[in-house]
Amino acid sequence: MILAATPANIKRAAEQLCLGGVVAFPTETVYGLGADATEEQAVAKIFEIKNRPRFNPLIVHLHDPNKIDQVADFKSDASLKRTVEKLLPFWPGPLSLVLPRHPSIPSLVSAGLSSIAVRIPAHDVALALLKTCDIPVAAPSANLFSSVSPTTAAHVEESLGGRVDLILDGGPCSLGVESTVLSLIDVVPTVLRPGGVTVEQLQEVLGDVRVKPTRPVSTSNGDITGSHKVAQLSPGMLREHYSPRTPMILKDQANTSRFPSRVGIIAFKNDPDFLSSHNYTSVKILSESANLKEIASKLFASIRDMDNLGLDLIVVDTCAEVGLGRAIMDRLRKASAGTKK
Ligand code: TXA
Ligand code: MG
Repeated sequence: MILAATPANIKRAAEQLCLGGVVAFPTETVYGLGADATEEQAVAKIFEIKNRPRFNPLIVHLHDPNKIDQVADFKSDASLKRTVEKLLPFWPGPLSLVLPRHPSIPSLVSAGLSSIAVRIPAHDVALALLKTCDIPVAAPSANLFSSVSPTTAAHVEESLGGRVDLILDGGPCSLGVESTVLSLIDVVPTVLRPGGVTVEQLQEVLGDVRVKPTRPVSTSNGDITGSHKVAQLSPGMLREHYSPRTPMILKDQANTSRFPSRVGIIAFKNDPDFLSSHNYTSVKILSESANLKEIASKLFASIRDMDNLGLDLIVVDTCAEVGLGRAIMDRLRKASAGTKK
């Protein structure tokens, strides 16, 4: 059931969370599927609803940085605390920090890892919800495992409608791609998933920042299922992440002479050469001027829309992997990884 994010409905959603229920709510990145992070049974429901493998750890959401000690265990590591303090200007915002997990948080939240990812979302509805329930809320993106992430309440309804009691509608997500996941438990801070806060922004504050190279891992590879090895690889790297049902390829891989009959195209700007390279069945232009923020905010919705058109192939534009372009290309590579080239 979709409910407008009125104060009364936010209160109702907070009550559900306190009772061990599961609630979908908006953030600035994508919609999240939340449950009480301190209750293993509540967290287990998230995995069930999403069909999410239990080796795939969740992000815990807070409304106040002072509550971080409830979920992370700094073990009097002053230097780690200082690093977190340096990053506080990014909160609320699209930055998830991987820290040592506090023993009071069930290990299921982190897929058995001794670490935990935590962030404060920059969205009034999310913050009001988190403040009202005043518990740490574990929330992955509110989509079925490996499908396209939701950026509107209708997207959540489309994929999880019958499975969640309550979807708070806070309008479309402004950023449109997920948070940056930054591990602070590695010797050098390491970006495990590029996202809304750019690597360049992090380097400005921290100096040395590594970026884990994208090595998509197939879920069909038998030897990884059920082991924690994959959790350590960061599950955002699973090959079938963000995938539409329709085959999808990147612009550089497109060979128009071998196109099937119904091909759709997602362009980042009004590029006559690209758009006229074939008689496309459907055309979507995400920005007039290849503005990365505009592209990111419309990216998942445009893939979903195209996916509902019954096309034989979706061709998608590419951009330089700098700034927000890194997150955009990361999602597109993963979304197209399952398509035979
Ligand atoms: O923007 C976001 O982060 C959204 C909104 C709802 O906050 N959430 C989200 O969650 O994208 P999810 O579950 O779709 O992605 C969580 C990612 C995983 O892919 C994993 O790479 C990383 O966070 N992660 C979580 N806990 C981790 C941990 N302890 N160590 C390493 N990576 C972790
Ligand atoms: Mg996700």
